[in-house]
Amino acid sequence: MNQDHTPVLLKESVDYLVTGKDGVYFEGTLGFGGHTLEILDRLSKKGSIVSTDVDLNAFNYCKEKFKSEDRIKLYNFNFSLVDVIAKIESFEFFDGILADLGVSSFQLDNAAAGFSYSINSMLDLRLDKSLRKTAADFINYESEEKIANVIFEYGEEKNSRKVARQISEARKVKRIETTDELKKIISSITNPKYVTKTLSRVFQALRIYVNDELGVLKAFLHSSVPILRKGGRLVIISYHSLEDRIVKDFFKYESLSCVCPPDSPICTCGKVKRLNIISKKPITPSDIEITNNRRARSAKLRVAEKV
Ligand SMILES: C[S@@+](CC[C@H](N)C(=O)[O-])C[C@H]1O[C@@H](n2cnc3c(N)ncnc32)[C@H](O)[C@@H]1O
Repeated sequence: MNQDHTPVLLKESVDYLVTGKDGVYFEGTLGFGGHTLEILDRLSKKGSIVSTDVDLNAFNYCKEKFKSEDRIKLYNFNFSLVDVIAKIESFEFFDGILADLGVSSFQLDNAAAGFSYSINSMLDLRLDKSLRKTAADFINYESEEKIANVIFEYGEEKNSRKVARQISEARKVKRIETTDELKKIISSITNPKYVTKTLSRVFQALRIYVNDELGVLKAFLHSSVPILRKGGRLVIISYHSLEDRIVKDFFKYESLSCVCPPDSPICTCGKVKRLNIISKKPITPSDIEITNNRRARSAKLRVAEKV
């Protein structure tokens, strides 16, 4: 595994995150350690960081990368277990929590990682190899309707019904095992002009579904707030409109001190405001960053602070 990922919105996200150089920070998406390294660079000898990645390759890569750094603790856990990790480490609070969602360029561009459709590999798409269901299991056993809904909802692919129909026909002949097989099925019913876009959308949808990426994001946000110190920041970089919507709605809800109907004479909801929104609009990469790193083009950074 070679360094093959340029950290996105690196300076901006870490500028927001690190509010004190002696603090304890949490990074939920270690990857190649790009953001983790930048955070460490901003900390004093007393500061520390706990970083996790659900992908064993990323975890092992960073274990080696940070082997002589004693201010870091590494986990191979899902970031939705942020509160469990805090307990294991005996931290009541983190001074800041960061997640740079999705997958790294390495995972996307390398056949061995199993996320790419450009080189043939097993149709897996699990970040965590202990998950029971692979993408192949899903498309071979789920109903045609469910497959169409997943491709439409998570991939925003207009031809989702047509793709699901073709998958359903192909699997009657033989179990679909590899990325190439799925690629052929999709290509056979797609205008060549749009094949690449359709393949990206379908593979993205399957990855989001197989890893329950939206469900774990919600769990992570909910678990993070109680263990964030007053004044600490929750900093999230997302790459997909559905993820960004979840972060935006969560920050909005947590920034309200009352959710009673507007015509209610007195407040009876008991809602407590837990966050202040720091980034009123999402922060996006500069033109220069996008020119240098195409993957940055869809990134959105949102920041909220614990009250
Ligand atoms: C965009 S990359 C992060 C790159 C990292 N910030 C860097 O600069 O090297 C996202 C990483 O998050 C990991 N990941 C995705 N979902 C996760 C989850 N639910 N829990 C833990 N890690 C996750 C992926 O395996 C991937 O390595």
